[in-house]
Amino acid sequence: MAQKVKIDIDGKLIDMPVLEASEGFNVLDVRDLINEGIFTYDPGFLSTASCDSKVTFIDGDKGILLYRGYPIEQLAEKSSHLEVSYLLLHGELPTKTQLETFENSINQHMQIDKQFAKLFDGFNESSHPMAMVCAAIAGLASLYHDDLDISDPEYQMKAAIQLIAKIPTIAAMAYRKSIGKDFIDPDPELTYAENFLHMCFGESGETASVSKTLSRALDKIFILHADHEQNASTSTVRMAGSTECNPFAAIAAGTAALWGPSHGGANEAVLGMLIEISEISRIDEYIKRAKDKEDPFKLMGFGHRVYKNFDPRATVMQSSAHAVLEEQGASNDPLLSVAQSLERIAREQEYFVERKLYPNIDFYSGITLKAMGIPVPMFTVIFTLGRMPGWITHWKEMVSSPFKIARPRQLYLGENSRNYIDINKR
Ligand code: ACO
Repeated sequence: MAQKVKIDIDGKLIDMPVLEASEGFNVLDVRDLINEGIFTYDPGFLSTASCDSKVTFIDGDKGILLYRGYPIEQLAEKSSHLEVSYLLLHGELPTKTQLETFENSINQHMQIDKQFAKLFDGFNESSHPMAMVCAAIAGLASLYHDDLDISDPEYQMKAAIQLIAKIPTIAAMAYRKSIGKDFIDPDPELTYAENFLHMCFGESGETASVSKTLSRALDKIFILHADHEQNASTSTVRMAGSTECNPFAAIAAGTAALWGPSHGGANEAVLGMLIEISEISRIDEYIKRAKDKEDPFKLMGFGHRVYKNFDPRATVMQSSAHAVLEEQGASNDPLLSVAQSLERIAREQEYFVERKLYPNIDFYSGITLKAMGIPVPMFTVIFTLGRMPGWITHWKEMVSSPFKIARPRQLYLGENSRNYIDINKR
């Protein structure tokens, strides 16, 4: 039976329908409220569903994350990032042939045009790789604009393939630029994650040699980051995309949103924090600072807007981290000891327990990526690489059915109308 909520506006009773979710919270449909001259107020969208979606489901209280209905733990263990990308884009797992065709088309489009690659010449070696990645993704819009037709499913898939195929190459180019080395072409014989590692750490003209443990762990990181429903960057992609702009431009907007330390930049911030703490004996001092309301310091890698239990991705990442640390001989890394002690202490303290502040995926991915030899400024780039199929799937979902330009309202608290005062009379 469909639920309804009655709202009393100055004595006038209004029936508001409740939309039924297939899983999770139902949603009060407030669209008619505008006819009564009233808006809803929800800064930061804590209680607002901005769209309907069939892609990903999260139950933050139970620590559940499903892509198209499949639990993240199963996908991380059994699938690959490209299979997950296909699943997100198409809604179903591929057959063997469908997966091969998809993988082949990704492989065919990984190469970046030499002329386009000159874009990187405009940056210094010290430029943050995220600045280069944002610019390069936005720049791709120039290559795929003439045939722009966002309502055409063929154009949508073409954009999806190009973005998923080219992001590892762009990410690796940003890294090579930062270390002053020549770019390395993708190798069609390698898997997606192997290719990325080869393009970052290989030597020009030499046969690729990539550790299976590292490429598998990296592929897992990509899977764990592939989508997370209406997070800040995905909502940004949807918001920019709702203006009917070029999808590459919408994805560039999402990439910029991901950069911040409250979102994808947190894995970089985690490492910065661990380096700053540097010794187990100093942890108490930082815990004290995190609890102090007068101090803006927060424990990076702890807490999540949605997960108020544990982050299921963090659990997968925690075990994968161990395999990498062992292979890299980094189990004795002092930063790791600081991280482990910090996690234990924070989990015991009332402040963190009461507020349900658990370690999130960034806490473990930061440590894993460091052990892999990936430089800290590249961490958010790795997140960008992983999130690409999620962003493009949400964009595709939005433009595939009728949508409106996203245009939030506000509660105006400024001055009332007043007359302009001549500058000599102020
Ligand atoms: N350290 C210390 N205190 C914290 C932390 C933290 N990491 N996170 C939240 N709190 C406190 C807040 O100060 C607040 O305390 P109060 O109730 O006494 O005022 C309470 O916990 C609730 O916090 P909110 O800020 O309301 O939580 P919100 O859901 O808005 O924020 C966020 C979530 C942004 C992730 C926050 O926990 C944070 O900044 N964490 C650190 C950064 C981080 O790890 N970000 C990664 C997010 S995951 C991702 O993007 C993949």
